[in-house]
Amino acid sequence: MTEHVLPTHTNSLGGVFGGQIMAWMDLCAAICAQRHSGAVVVTAGIDDLTFERTVRAGQIVRLTARMTAAFRSSMEIFVNVEGEDAVAGEVWPCVSAFVTFVAVDAAMRPVAVRPLVLSTDEERVAEIAAHERRASRLAKRKK
Ligand SMILES: CC(C)(COP(=O)(O)OP(=O)(O)OC[C@H]1O[C@@H](n2cnc3c(N)ncnc32)[C@H](O)[C@@H]1OP(=O)(O)O)[C@@H](O)C(=O)NCCC(=O)NCCS
Repeated sequence: MTEHVLPTHTNSLGGVFGGQIMAWMDLCAAICAQRHSGAVVVTAGIDDLTFERTVRAGQIVRLTARMTAAFRSSMEIFVNVEGEDAVAGEVWPCVSAFVTFVAVDAAMRPVAVRPLVLSTDEERVAEIAAHERRASRLAKRKK
């Protein structure tokens, strides 16, 4: 997903609002989860995020979403955000996060999603790490 930063997206210092970036991340990840599940999806949670460097008015925000694991009804998506200055030809890391979506029916009941097909060792390693993060999230949820 690509967004152009307009003055309406920025704070008084000309940098994009963190909340605006988070909204774009949520949307980008939702599209990924919806394409995989073929269902309506809702955001269950977003893991920690730390902004490394801002993106300013006139610059570009580049977002990529990749599913790391599909569980029963929930899916973990990794979203990476970069800033880009098309005039200077520069790209830099902005922020990244893991977002969990749940596929639901019309009554907001969770519904099962199809398994994620893993074809590379990198994807298999990412899925193992996703299972570990899920265990830690669910443990926090129980407390
Ligand atoms: C997300 C939601 C549908 C889960 O419903 P629930 O009744 O708690 O259902 P369950 O306990 O059976 O959990 C369903 C799945 O969600 C996962 N889940 C629930 N809360 C979670 C959380 N905070 N983080 C990660 N996963 C979570 C569960 O692990 C389970 O996954 P699985 O089916 O893959 O095993 C419900 O909490 C909800 O509607 N929340 C509000 C969503 C919302 O409004 N989002 C913002 C706007 S889109």
